[in-house]
Amino acid sequence: MIVGVLKEVLDGENRVAITPQTVKDLLKSGLEVHIQAGAGESSFITDSDYENSGAKIVADASSILSNSDLTIKVATATLDEIDQLKNGSAYISFIQTTRDTEAVKKLTQKNISAFSMHLIPRTTLAQSMDALSSQANVAGYKAVITGAMHLPVYMPLLMTAAGTIPPAKVLIIGAGVAGLQAIATAKRLGAQVEAFDVRPEVKEQVESLGAKFVEVASENEEGVGEGGYAKETSDDYKEKQQALMKEHISKSDLVITTALIPGKPAPLLIPSGMVEAMKKGSVIVDLAAENGGNCQDTVAGEVKNKNGVTIDGTLNFPSTMQVHSSQLYAKNISTFISHMTKEGDIEIDMEDEIISGSIFTHQGKITHEPTQQAVKKD
Ligand code: NAI
Repeated sequence: MIVGVLKEVLDGENRVAITPQTVKDLLKSGLEVHIQAGAGESSFITDSDYENSGAKIVADASSILSNSDLTIKVATATLDEIDQLKNGSAYISFIQTTRDTEAVKKLTQKNISAFSMHLIPRTTLAQSMDALSSQANVAGYKAVITGAMHLPVYMPLLMTAAGTIPPAKVLIIGAGVAGLQAIATAKRLGAQVEAFDVRPEVKEQVESLGAKFVEVASENEEGVGEGGYAKETSDDYKEKQQALMKEHISKSDLVITTALIPGKPAPLLIPSGMVEAMKKGSVIVDLAAENGGNCQDTVAGEVKNKNGVTIDGTLNFPSTMQVHSSQLYAKNISTFISHMTKEGDIEIDMEDEIISGSIFTHQGKITHEPTQQAVKKD
């Protein structure tokens, strides 16, 4: 069976879905690997690196699309690419299925067995295939580095002959994978770090990284949703959270927001009024920008200045660290492919929870309920 790898065409996407190491992994599973010429260029992997690891380089995307039994990508395939996929073949990418509904419809029409790396279950067994985590880790790290670059102050405490510099105050909102990495990175840079999350169980993790957990007094587990994810909170909780956030945000030099609720727009946690109450020179890096942003003044893909406050809405931070992001993403994907390959054949076993959890179109049907709902609404 042929696994085909396309060169990414989305503007600003520097990652690639395969590395020379994962070519070897796939060959070991009994698969053949075809890679579009130049696919690894933006991640500094040459065609000969791939060839040396056993892959075949193919000049054009069309041949890859029409010959592959499984096509893999980072970003969602374009509608034109989907049109050219071999009927009934398999496809894996980082597609957001409830958003990219046109792509979902086309994949269904072409009988594609399509999988999203976004839908890989967050279970211990699937940990090595969890691309959401591997990429969120990169984003959390790079958000802090980017925030530090915008700041007009030092991050660490410094005692110099010319006086003492206090450490920067950093607030991380949302302590999931990206938030925890952001805490660790800000701590390493010497900042004084606080973090907030609606899920009280993360308190221990936040504290173990040396940060202070900011808590909203609540009698029940308000923000705790299914599968360890967050859910929307009550109006009363939101009011208390806003008051507390205002107090902490106004004292912070750098605020990194990472709050997300699966399948919903990002919760609005920093209204414009709160930005106005911030110190001039302070910075917000909004990692939720792609899903609408946690800050009202975030403009997706842009860096704005509002009353002296820098608000960074950069999209796709992982693509700015493409060497490691590609390495991790490619490993997640090759582990997933190996998981569903038996004796050189890709087998779609719907009894397998990793496979049934991440597949969203199969045999002409949408198999993932939330995706079905999103397509119906469209
Ligand atoms: P995410 O990207 O969906 O959300 C980021 C964070 O924002 C979460 O911690 C969430 O609680 C928080 N949040 C949501 N609404 C908020 C609000 N209004 N105010 C403040 N914070 C808010 O989360 P991520 O990073 O994908 O992780 C989700 C869960 O999955 C976590 O419990 C994590 O530990 C778990 N997980 C489990 C894995 C495994 O068992 N293999 C692997 C990775 C994650």
